[in-house]
Amino acid sequence: MNIAVFASGNGSDLQAIMDACANGRLAANVCCVISNNSNAFALERARSAGIPTYHISTRTAPDPGAEMINTLRHHHTGLVFLAGYLKKLPSAVTKAYPTYNIHPALLPKFGGKGMYGIHVHTAVLAAGETETGITIHRVSDEYDTGAIVAQCTVPVLPGDTPDLLAARVLTQEHVFIVDVLEKILCEISSG
Ligand code: GRF
Repeated sequence: MNIAVFASGNGSDLQAIMDACANGRLAANVCCVISNNSNAFALERARSAGIPTYHISTRTAPDPGAEMINTLRHHHTGLVFLAGYLKKLPSAVTKAYPTYNIHPALLPKFGGKGMYGIHVHTAVLAAGETETGITIHRVSDEYDTGAIVAQCTVPVLPGDTPDLLAARVLTQEHVFIVDVLEKILCEISSG
């Protein structure tokens, strides 16, 4: 299965997927990485692994959705995974491909526009939650609202700061993303 990953930033979740493909844990291949941000370290990670990268945004293409579809077709993409992609994905893409996103909280809480990165963990602490977590969900036309595929919990500990909590959740994401992708690939291959 060819997985196309979209990422806007550091790309540590992308790295977990690439590593799991490379070591045979996932019967898949990252066929391309697409970013709206030409400086994303995720692109650097992909290039180091010999994976084709694309910078696609409203600045690079009059119709980014069409450009994305062309790119995804060119690489025979079977599945799209958003791993820290901060732009809304054109609906042309979600209509054409099974598309998944990873979110660093227990949706439907702490999701929606503006709820990304450290903002999520700051809101979790401000709400006095004792538990947070990770959600992998299908991508729909609204931020963070598609069907939930899998969730796991991560404890909030006394003395947590947003940075400490973010780091704990992210470490867990690198394991969870591979576990859940393995199940998704299994379901797809068994029809
Ligand atoms: C992760 O926390 C993910 O849940 C969210 O964006 C972050 C990406 O981190 N959607 P990284 O760029 O993969 O390190």
